[in-house]
Amino acid sequence: MNHSESWRALVTGGAGFIGSHLVETLLRRGAVVRILDDFSTGKRENLERAEEWAEAGKGGFELIEGDLRDRGACHRAVEGVELVFHEAALGSVPRSVEDPLTTEQVNVEGTLNLLLAARNAGVRRVVAASSSSVYGDSPVLPKTEEMRCDPLSPYALSKYAAEAYCLLFWRLYGLESVALRYFNVFGPRQDPHSQYAAVIPCFLSALLDGRRPVVYGTGEQTRDFTYVGNVVQANLAAAEAGPEVCGLAFNIACGERTSLLELLAVLKRLTGQGADPVFETHRLFSSRSSQEGAARASGLCRGSVCRNSSSGWEATRVSSRKLGSGTRLSYPHPEP
Ligand SMILES: NC(=O)c1ccc[n+]([C@@H]2O[C@H](COP(=O)([O-])OP(=O)(O)OC[C@H]3O[C@@H](n4cnc5c(N)ncnc54)[C@H](O)[C@@H]3O)[C@@H](O)[C@H]2O)c1
Repeated sequence: MNHSESWRALVTGGAGFIGSHLVETLLRRGAVVRILDDFSTGKRENLERAEEWAEAGKGGFELIEGDLRDRGACHRAVEGVELVFHEAALGSVPRSVEDPLTTEQVNVEGTLNLLLAARNAGVRRVVAASSSSVYGDSPVLPKTEEMRCDPLSPYALSKYAAEAYCLLFWRLYGLESVALRYFNVFGPRQDPHSQYAAVIPCFLSALLDGRRPVVYGTGEQTRDFTYVGNVVQANLAAAEAGPEVCGLAFNIACGERTSLLELLAVLKRLTGQGADPVFETHRLFSSRSSQEGAARASGLCRGSVCRNSSSGWEATRVSSRKLGSGTRLSYPHPEP
């Protein structure tokens, strides 16, 4: 059943890559949406389409520019809200290795501030973004939620601690919480220019700029790439599901293994560019092992949430247009 047209929802990190897609889908469904974002990695232009939806009278849209580390901002953000989609975090494993303290303050303490504010304000449910990085370097495939977590970086540890806090709040205070462990999300608006860019935008921007993409390690390590539209659907399903999903973490993956070299071949075909990669030594803190996520056979994944990523790949059209000195990438927009 779809109740989302009557939702009053907060999306933290709503100006970011995943959060902005979620905001748009919620607005398209008629929800009233508030965003809490400090624009540390998010962008105002990511909200342009959301503003159009709000102007067209579909749902309402309010932006609070604020920091999760500021308890007052968290308190204002949750007022009158029924659902919280918690996307805000400092992403990137390398960034966390350089500056573990800030990653901890934003991802763990910031989440705790938000949870306390949500509990005090009587929020019904928190759906929190976690990460497949919590599994560490285990060679076991596919990764299932029952596996032991073994975070290998401050980022992974912060996501693990944040999800544990969310699930603890369900047990201690009855605040309904669900954690979603995303596996390598890709899609429109993923920043290719950040020094911490993820592998798909990195490869794409190198190919489109006529540079040779850098592959760390042999390129045979696999990842389970998950289209952002699937992640949005998973969030909606987590919000709509019954109480049986509370206090649990779910893998949000497509259940496919794609090696970095296979990925590169796909992107070469999509872009029509053929530069061969440069191989560099594997970075210490990133996972050498392969990844493929298997989702729990019950609850969230009973529907079509984790549909095969091939639809995402097939639908992925890459175009580029030069904007000043930068290259902008665009893909089709995820289905509502
Ligand atoms: N992109 C992926 O492949 C992936 C994989 C696993 C998990 N995740 C998780 O998904 C979530 C969204 O990731 P994304 O890829 O959209 O990242 P993103 O950097 O595009 O979005 C994060 C948003 O949070 C905001 N933010 C950061 N620190 C904040 C703070 N202190 N206060 C308020 N806002 C703050 C940023 O400005 C940004 O808009 C994160 O929790 C991330 O850990 C992402």
